[in-house]
Amino acid sequence: MNLINLATHAPKAELHLHIEGSFEPELMFEIAQRNQVKLPFASVEEIRAAYDFSNLQEFLDIYYQGMSVLLVERDFYDLTWAYLQRAAADNVIHCEIFFDPQGHTERGVAFAHAIGGISRALADGQIRLGISSKLIMCFLRHLSEEEALATWEEAQPFLSLIDGVGLDSSELGHPPSKFANVFAKAKQAGLHLVAHAGEEGPPEYVWEALDDLQVTRIDHGNRALEDEALVARMASENTCLTVCPLSNLKLCVIERIEDHPIRDMLNAGLLAMINSDDPSYFGGYVNANYHAVINALDLTRSEIETLLRNSFIGSFMDDSDKAEALAKLDAYVTQARFAK
Ligand code: ADE
Ligand code: ZN
Repeated sequence: MNLINLATHAPKAELHLHIEGSFEPELMFEIAQRNQVKLPFASVEEIRAAYDFSNLQEFLDIYYQGMSVLLVERDFYDLTWAYLQRAAADNVIHCEIFFDPQGHTERGVAFAHAIGGISRALADGQIRLGISSKLIMCFLRHLSEEEALATWEEAQPFLSLIDGVGLDSSELGHPPSKFANVFAKAKQAGLHLVAHAGEEGPPEYVWEALDDLQVTRIDHGNRALEDEALVARMASENTCLTVCPLSNLKLCVIERIEDHPIRDMLNAGLLAMINSDDPSYFGGYVNANYHAVINALDLTRSEIETLLRNSFIGSFMDDSDKAEALAKLDAYVTQARFAK
């Protein structure tokens, strides 16, 4: 079996996926029409043509505009269900997805509508597609910690549906330490903690995410490689890095896909794995991300197997589910060695 097919058909987990970033233009138009909301684009082609970014902020401006057509529970259900069907086609058997409640509540949409639709689709994903999932609520770092704390309070009635909290949006100028209090509350409540860090921001932001927020997983983390002591620490603590190659390319974190640091991360002993981030905006779902780095870096069979294994090892599955998923992957990898 060639290595592209190996990655394509392998059971895998996706741990870095913004559900609002999986919003395909076709569905965006359909929901906009249903809700009688006007989009500033005339066609699907016009929307796709606008997806040309030179940095994170340029993308975020369009991403918040896109999600503004989501108003009621059904919209969030349809969005999430569309992602799950696409993920199933890529042989994702477990996903941990982000949502941005503040991107909705600040437009007057009820927290309950957003989380209700998303979690109902995730439950259906388990039953109808066999995909297990976790839900991670992100705070928007360009807003204040007071606003994050208010969102934390709003989330209280729904805590049984939330597995973790994260931090996303504009990184530069918004260090993780700004959110130490709200993360301390989430830790006390027993939630998993993650944060975007080192995507555009400096290694210091990764240190802060680890030390001040106590996260156990770093989303992106590319710039951590600039700091040897930081790499050594993350390698020794088995801190997972949820890496997003096509996102890095589209947001100009790297110039060419051949420059992607995924192999350097593995060689440094980091628990890196592959994700799609915002697949509708960045040109591909998780398998397309595997294919891009396999082709550009000529990854070996062993490197690909490591990335796939890391997708489960870095997850927040409980120990027995994790062992079962890893056994499934091992069985797949073993039979793939003998397949044509
Ligand atoms: N929100 C959605 N995608 C993001 C990314 N790649 N970085 C920061 N915030 C985001
Ligand atoms: Zn992200």
